[in-house]
Amino acid sequence: NKGNYEHYMQKEIHEQPESLKTTMRGRLIRGGSCKAKTVLLGGLKDHFKTIRRSRRIVFIGCGTSYNAALAARPILDELSGVPVTMEIASDLLDRQGPIYREDTAVFVSQSGETADTLQALEYALENGALCVGITNTVGSAIARHTHCGVHINAGAEIGVASTKAYTSQIVVMAMLALAIGGDTISSQTRREAIIDGLFDLPNKVREVLNLDQEMKDLAKLLIAEQSLLVFGRGYNYATALEGALKVKEVALMHSEGILAGEMKHGPLALVDENLPIIVIATRDSCFSKQQSVIQQLHARKGRVIVMCSKGEAVSVCPGGLGRVIEVPHVEDCLQPVINVVPLQLLAYHLTVLRGYNVDQPRNLAKSVTTQ
Ligand code: UD1
Ligand code: M6R
Repeated sequence: NKGNYEHYMQKEIHEQPESLKTTMRGRLIRGGSCKAKTVLLGGLKDHFKTIRRSRRIVFIGCGTSYNAALAARPILDELSGVPVTMEIASDLLDRQGPIYREDTAVFVSQSGETADTLQALEYALENGALCVGITNTVGSAIARHTHCGVHINAGAEIGVASTKAYTSQIVVMAMLALAIGGDTISSQTRREAIIDGLFDLPNKVREVLNLDQEMKDLAKLLIAEQSLLVFGRGYNYATALEGALKVKEVALMHSEGILAGEMKHGPLALVDENLPIIVIATRDSCFSKQQSVIQQLHARKGRVIVMCSKGEAVSVCPGGLGRVIEVPHVEDCLQPVINVVPLQLLAYHLTVLRGYNVDQPRNLAKSVTTQ
C-alpha cells in the first residue's frame, strides 16, 4: 500500500522519521536523574562478553548494506575497542579470505536472503567465528542461521532501491558500537552526546526531508547528464558511495562515489565545466580538507554542488560560486543518516523525470538470491 505516494521508493524515503523511531524503540534508555544513558540490544545481551573478547569484528554485506556498515565504521572503530574490518560478501568468497574462530562476523542484510551474504555466513560458520546478523526480516535465512543478532525493525521495504533500511542499519550499528564499548568512563560524554543525537535524529530527518522540492529542481538541472560524481570522506565516504549507487540503480545514470582523498590520484583529470560533482562538506573533523577540495575543483572550473551544514554556505562557497544543499547538523557519526536523504530524493526525482521505473529498475531484483 503506497498510501498518498506515487511510488514505494518515495514512500519509504519519507517514512524515515518513523522507521528510525521504530528501529530505536525500547533500545535507547535515557534513565532517571542519576541513571546513565544506555543502549539495550536484547538479541545480543548474552553475547557481548564474547564480542568484546574477539580478535576482530568483520562486517560483511553487499550493495547498500555494505555501505551502511562502511558508514558506521568510524564510530565502531572509535568506541568498540576491537579492530574492525569490512568485507563485500562476494569478494570475501572469491578470495576465501581469512575468517577465524576468534572473529566476530557481522552479516548485514535488509532481506536476510542475499545469496552472497548467506554463503559468506556458511563460510564463517565453518571457520568457527561468532556470527551475528543485522537484518530487517524476521525468520529470514540470515536471521535463522546466525548465532544471534539485531532486527532493524524498519518495516517492510518494497522498492528495489534500499532507502529506509540503510538509515536504520546505520543507527543499529551506531547502537552496536555504543553497546560493545560499554560504560568506559573516558568515552562517557561522547556516548551520551550520541544517545541524545539518536533521540533527536527522527526530527532532524523530518527537517532534511523539506529539501524535497529543492532536490526536484536540482534533478531538473541534471536530467540529461551522462554522469555524476559524488565526493565524500571520513564519516561520509559511505554517503558518497550510497548516493552514487542510488543514482545509478534507479535513474540509470552513471554515477561514482569517490573518496575525496583520492581526488589527485586520478579523478581530478575528469574535472571540466560540464561534469557535475557533488561534494559532501558538512561540518566535522574533515571539513577543512573538503574546503580545500572545493577550492581545487573551482580552480579547474569544476561544476560543483556542495552539501554543507545549515548556515555554512558562505564558508563552502566563497563568492557564491556553485550550488549548495544545506542540511541540519547532527553528531558527526550520525551525519551520514542525514546526508544520504537529499541524495535519495535526488535519485528519486531524476528517475521520475527521466521516465524510468522507480520501484523496479531494469535487470535488478529486490533480493539477489542467485550468485
Ligand atoms: C525481541 C522481540 C520483540 C520484542 C522484544 C521485547 C522478536 C523477533 N523480537 O526484540 O518483538 O518486542 O524482544 O523485549 O521476537 N537474531 C538473530 N539473527 C539476526 C537477528 C536476530 O539470531 O539476524 C536473534 C536475536 O539474537 C534474538 C532474536 O533473534 O534472539 C530477536 O532479535 P531482536 O528482534 O533484535 O531482539 P529484541 O530487540 O530483543
Ligand atoms: O537484502 P540485502 O541488504 O542483503 O541486499 C543487498 C543488496 O542487494 C542491496 O542493498 C542492493 O544493493 C540494493 N538494490 C541497493 O539499493
